Amino acid sequence: MPSTRSHINVQDHNLTIGGIDTVSLAQEYGTPLYVTDEERLRENFRRFASAFSDADIYFAAKANWNLAILRILASEGAGADVFSDGELYVALLAGISPDKILFNGNSKTAHELQMAIDAGVRVSADSLHELRTLSRLATESDRTVDIAFRVNPDVSPDTHPKIATGLAASKFGIGYRDVLAAYSEAAKLPGINPVGIHCHIGSQILDVSPFGEAAERMMDLVEQITRLGIDLTFVDLGGGLGIPYAAEMTAPTPNDLTDMILPIFEERSRAIGISPRLILEPGRYIAGDAGILLTGVNTVKRAAKNFVGVDAGLNLLIRPAMYDAYHEVVVANKADQDPEETYEIVGPICESGDIIARDRRLPPIEPGDVVAVLDTGAYGFSMSSRYNGRVRCAEVLVNRGGVDVIRRREDYGDLIAKDVVPARLLR
Ligand code: LLP
Repeated sequence: MPSTRSHINVQDHNLTIGGIDTVSLAQEYGTPLYVTDEERLRENFRRFASAFSDADIYFAAKANWNLAILRILASEGAGADVFSDGELYVALLAGISPDKILFNGNSKTAHELQMAIDAGVRVSADSLHELRTLSRLATESDRTVDIAFRVNPDVSPDTHPKIATGLAASKFGIGYRDVLAAYSEAAKLPGINPVGIHCHIGSQILDVSPFGEAAERMMDLVEQITRLGIDLTFVDLGGGLGIPYAAEMTAPTPNDLTDMILPIFEERSRAIGISPRLILEPGRYIAGDAGILLTGVNTVKRAAKNFVGVDAGLNLLIRPAMYDAYHEVVVANKADQDPEETYEIVGPICESGDIIARDRRLPPIEPGDVVAVLDTGAYGFSMSSRYNGRVRCAEVLVNRGGVDVIRRREDYGDLIAKDVVPARLLR
């Protein structure tokens, strides 16, 4: 067990999270089951926020937009990076103040832009088309919208290509060379108030130097934009700090990120003669290790591999299938037993790629055992689906000995809740 996860332990042979026995959780609430440790979530947020005491921390809602989770983070003072109308809806409902929300997205609908205008949140504009639509909608509503541009800084972090977002060929943001022209146009458009600049270079980044490179390139732009006579009040450098999914991995801390970007941000701001706010948008760092997924073993089959068929698959955790992501797994009811065999932990979905964990040395596994998949608090449930007609599982929150259900298990009715059979087919 990596020592960084102080909230995950073993007691009486069983895995615990936040002091609660995961095997009892599985018995009481059924599997699959997402479990979040509230204290760990709060600690992660506080650790990040204290490393950046002069910055605003906007939690990336896409990582986990459960209402209770967002409410906890709101109570810690978090703002939100939202990427859709739905995420905006939930963030506002969770009590995150509109002046701490940035509406991001590379292909927003007019409806989403109108929603941002009505809610009074800032918008990170991703294209000139979007800017012009926003100007028209704001003018029609008699409002002025504070905007940033999402900039593509053309920086290459060492991460999975599917989660690198700031490469020159990425779909996100305004091309680096086009940024000044975009600000010039924004400054002239009615209903638009260009007040910020935004980038996000990618996710699960384990070397902080690309963040420094991005910060330099962004501050170069800030200098040039300021010369245009535009007063930038915030610089948002996005999220992306990685976490150690495997015991042997080392990940930078928020303090390492501070050391890398803060001197650049502060010195360059001083030299330019401005004092913008720094905004950061961590998702994974805050929620990732606070959550686990408990999944029950249905069957063990000895074939080309020792296949362990569990009740959660890529419907509930798509990261291994989508990014070949590694998640540590523990047999929750045998957490103190030595590994004896090599197993392939596979989900119940009709896809060959539905493999949660490959080639893992684990204690002997039998039907009825409970497998815990660690570090699933970010991009776990939030990327889930109902593929194969599987209902989504419940989620619980543990906090100092107590357990609360924070999302009820779906039922069959949810599968067809929005389906309509035309009357002529019922005759
Ligand atoms: N800000 C923006 C604009 C983003 O697009 C993202 C993530 C973040 C912040 C938060 O990044 P984080 O701190 O969580 O790395 N589904 C993938 C990750 C996709 C991330 C998309 N954008 C995964 O499961 O690894």
